[in-house]
Amino acid sequence: MPHTFVIFGASGDLTSRKLIPALYNLRRKGRLPEDAKIVGVSRTPFSHEDWRKELTETTAKFTGDLFDAALWEEFSQSIYYQPGDIGQDEDFAKLAAFLDELEGGEPSTRVYYLSTAPRFYGQACERLGKAGLADETNGERRVVIEKPFGTDGASARELNKTVHCAFDEHQVYRIDHYLGKETVQNLMVLRFANTIFEPVWNRNYIDHVQITVAEEVEVGKRAGYYDSAGVVRDMFQNHILQLLMITAMEAPIRYAADPVRDEKVKVLQAVRTMSADEVKTSTMRGQYRGYTAEEGVDARSRTATFAAMKLSIDNWRWQGVPFYLRSGKAMSCRTTQIVIQFREPPHMLFDDGPRSVSEANRLVIQVQPNEGIQMHFETKVPDQGMKMRQTDLDFNYQREFRGTMPEAYERLLLDALEGDASLFARADEVEAAWAICDPILHAWAERDRPTLYMYDPGFWGPEESTEWMYQEGRQWFDICPVIK
Ligand code: BG6
Repeated sequence: MPHTFVIFGASGDLTSRKLIPALYNLRRKGRLPEDAKIVGVSRTPFSHEDWRKELTETTAKFTGDLFDAALWEEFSQSIYYQPGDIGQDEDFAKLAAFLDELEGGEPSTRVYYLSTAPRFYGQACERLGKAGLADETNGERRVVIEKPFGTDGASARELNKTVHCAFDEHQVYRIDHYLGKETVQNLMVLRFANTIFEPVWNRNYIDHVQITVAEEVEVGKRAGYYDSAGVVRDMFQNHILQLLMITAMEAPIRYAADPVRDEKVKVLQAVRTMSADEVKTSTMRGQYRGYTAEEGVDARSRTATFAAMKLSIDNWRWQGVPFYLRSGKAMSCRTTQIVIQFREPPHMLFDDGPRSVSEANRLVIQVQPNEGIQMHFETKVPDQGMKMRQTDLDFNYQREFRGTMPEAYERLLLDALEGDASLFARADEVEAAWAICDPILHAWAERDRPTLYMYDPGFWGPEESTEWMYQEGRQWFDICPVIK
């Protein structure tokens, strides 16, 4: 049965930087169905050959050493281009005719990937529906929708409604590329394919959890988008809450789309909604110095490029265990890590001076870069009485498995083609994520909003964030991964 992958927003950056390289890599590894065809759609009047030529250059650039000119040449013959405007009904009719011709009228599996500006997601779905392109009588039809899915709860609900007018929920794949990362999937394996972690993965043993997604880069060319979004919409509503869900969820009854997503949604539903006063005490926002001088940023912009927050999960497993989340641009280094900080032993036998929380056991899941997991524990220093020191058990992907880590998009595009939605967000999940972020965004926009703290690029956000954590009786683990 033919498989057709249709990309709306074909001339955009995501297509050349991520989507086509991921599809090429899947072909290189022999994972893409032999009969798979790719069709790019955008307004630029390209021929098939024009587009192939352009992609040759970008794919060579973005796949580096993995680029094989002969293989690409062969693969590129399965890439087509159909000019079209998302605002025009007749362009969808033309696309439908083109796809039918390409597939020889046979039953087929089609994936429509919306890599356009977010304001077109709704229209694109409506017109796909109107043109009969969502109809599943002649094979499976799916739509992949990029982030951001809405700009708040109300717009996300509205968008879900529009999408559902054309596509049934089982056809909708809301993508979050963090779920395509090996280390994020491995968190489920770590928890649910081993026996030693789950018994201690709860309030009885865990003091708190820290999730840090730090980026060294500044906003750069995306300032126009970023200035209206800010760090909560850009990183928390999607990526960071995904990390939180996988860290905190119960074991699903089996590994399949709905059981997994049922458990994830329950975590979000258990996150305590913050009142405006709580937003003041449990969140912290910052902006790096120099942000307002970026091209495309309003000179008086109050957009947060850094945020830290404390979330509470009101369920039996997590009652009383704070989850500290933080993310920012222009920070010390690029690192995404989840730190599970265990409690101190109930009684310390060894007299080794005053103990501090940071010396209790700690499990660090290094999501990226230098992917791995470290377990920190106390060890007796030889020949020094009962003196102790923190030591590590250190698992490192590179050391263990060699080879390069696949790009997140490879796994996700293949799953979309094969119809596995386990690593995609469901409608209720996206709405529940907004329900956590909306009160924060509202309180930050009010007249008596909390202070926006400034920080110098190259630090771990504003100093006040460090201070705030001390007041919580804890400290951030500001550790840059050692790149070997
Ligand atoms: C994107 C955000 O979704 O994720 C960007 O819009 C951010 O602002 C990026 O830089 C981070 O992704 P990664 O995979 O580099 O951690």
